Amino acid sequence: MLKGSKVGFRARHEDDIPVLRAELYDDVVNASRAEAGPWRPIAPGSKDPRLVTDDKEQGSVPFSVVELAGGTLVGTATLWDIDTHNRSAHIGLGLRPSARGKGYGTDVVAVLCHYGFVVRGLHRLQIETLSDNAAMLRSAERNGFVREGVLRSSAWVMGEFLDEVLLGLLARDWKPGASG
Ligand SMILES: CC(C)(COP(=O)(O)OP(=O)(O)OC[C@H]1O[C@@H](n2cnc3c(N)ncnc32)[C@H](O)[C@@H]1OP(=O)(O)O)[C@@H](O)C(=O)NCCC(=O)NCCS
Repeated sequence: MLKGSKVGFRARHEDDIPVLRAELYDDVVNASRAEAGPWRPIAPGSKDPRLVTDDKEQGSVPFSVVELAGGTLVGTATLWDIDTHNRSAHIGLGLRPSARGKGYGTDVVAVLCHYGFVVRGLHRLQIETLSDNAAMLRSAERNGFVREGVLRSSAWVMGEFLDEVLLGLLARDWKPGASG
């Protein structure tokens, strides 16, 4: 298991799936804000890649995130769009509502940086988030991500166009442990 100061990353377990589905992906507002495409319901038994992981898929690595103390599932983290030529990838994360605002998001970003830079030898990590997502912006900036631009009116979310902020972090600028 990969460990931060508060959270651990492990593989997806079967019993994570109903929890993640109910608390993250069946929630129309949460899913519409967190994902690029339109919300649609996930059918029972679906092999939707947000829930069921495919070990042969080399372009992304999904993790289930647990509390180090006790092992309770708190959410998901993903390294995705892994580009082995340019040595870059995107990061994504989503926490269960009850796990938000406790510092876990900042620690999840720290563990994703460790996985991307140390385990995978990447050079650049990137994240896009809605410009009103203060907790995500702060979690990224606490880990050294810098704002590289605003994608104006780039996201259609529940009836309106919203801006997204693009943030990047280079391996040479990353300071492990700086967020904690
Ligand atoms: C975004 C998310 C991952 C952040 O994780 P989190 O655990 O809630 O964030 P943290 O507790 O680590 O807080 C990070 C910082 O944001 C601040 N913060 C937290 N919630 C906030 C809020 N609602 N408004 C303003 N600031 C907030 C914290 O005070 C902290 O700031 P500090 O470092 O100055 O103390 C989490 O809230 C989440 O899963 N949200 C829903 C899904 C989502 O938006 N995913 C990202 C899509 S790109």
